[in-house]
Amino acid sequence: MIEDRVISPELIYEDDNFDEKIDETTLRPQTFSEYIGQEKVKENLKVYIEAAKDRGEALDHVLLYGPPGLGKTTLAMIIANEMNSHIKITSGPAIEKAGDLAAILTNLQENDILFIDEIHRLNKSVEEILYPALEDFSLDIVIGKGPSAKSIRLDLPKFTLVGATTKAGSLSSPLRDRFGIIHRLDLYTQKELATIIQRSSKILGAQIDEEAALEIGSRCRGTPRIANRLLKRVRDFAQVEKKESIDYQIAKKALDRLEIDEIGLDNTDRLMLKTVIEKFNGGPVGIDTLAACIGEDKDTIEDVYEPYLMQIGFLSRGPRGRMATPLAYDHLNIEYKPGKRS
Ligand SMILES: Nc1ncnc2c1ncn2[C@@H]1O[C@H](COP(=O)(O)OP(=O)(O)OP(=O)(O)O)[C@@H](O)[C@H]1O
Ligand SMILES: [Mg+2]
Repeated sequence: MIEDRVISPELIYEDDNFDEKIDETTLRPQTFSEYIGQEKVKENLKVYIEAAKDRGEALDHVLLYGPPGLGKTTLAMIIANEMNSHIKITSGPAIEKAGDLAAILTNLQENDILFIDEIHRLNKSVEEILYPALEDFSLDIVIGKGPSAKSIRLDLPKFTLVGATTKAGSLSSPLRDRFGIIHRLDLYTQKELATIIQRSSKILGAQIDEEAALEIGSRCRGTPRIANRLLKRVRDFAQVEKKESIDYQIAKKALDRLEIDEIGLDNTDRLMLKTVIEKFNGGPVGIDTLAACIGEDKDTIEDVYEPYLMQIGFLSRGPRGRMATPLAYDHLNIEYKPGKRS
């Protein structure tokens, strides 16, 4: 199950994971200068923020998309920080009724940031309230029912919506079109991750050498959240072995014990690739069939496993399903026999 995976890019919100929640806040960069990588996004946002501040206006609405754990929430908070604005944080599924959104909107102040996570999960009736709010900063509410119902229009303060989603494709186009600034976050490079790991170690009060940071950086699937989580596990090993600082050897040992291989794949990734290769001759295999075969949830496969496997070129997706590439065969030490594929 995904909850048990140390390499899950998702935030684990369980009560026994209080530690994790604390780390999310303590390790979270507060300013652009602490936010490592995503240079293009950062440079552009800095310009837009400076210009908006110069004009004394609210920043245009911002949409951030990309796989989980890459720093969308962090970036939203930094935007608020740099704009010297308040931020109100909510999420698509948390806003159930049109009235919930109306309450949030009417409580905003001028130049506030409204952050809606998982914005692709807003329901339709809520989304429709949002359109005029984004465009004209106005809110249409209907009072009463039946023939005597009256529609009134309220003015809203000029606010900035920052929307985040892991599934930009699921966003309706009228909603997408209302964002003036749209940025995709990319997976981080090994070097950037090593820098993030070194920064986090410092905050956690642990010493780590560069080689060890690079080793963790190569096994965290390009994702800062996973990097921080692996760092904590490696730190545990170092502590138990009474190492003064985390070196390459202990990092490697800990990661091997966690069964995360040199490129960040865990057992489930390997099982998934092996299933495609051995049971389906390399594919194509439909997502539902694959999900049933490995006992995983279809959405989890699509949101969590696949993006990375596709990014590293191990899996390809065609109209008839998923296919394992020669690179995947190679990694699993299985001979690639393209002739056998149908
Ligand atoms: N650029 C970065 N530099 C340093 N640390 C980062 C960076 N981006 C993310 N992090 C770290 O990774 C953690 C996860 O980031 P964040 O919560 O912003 O991800 P997210 O994209 O919002 O994920 P989700 O899609 O699950 O909401 C942060 O708490 C922070 O410690
Ligand atoms: Mg987030």
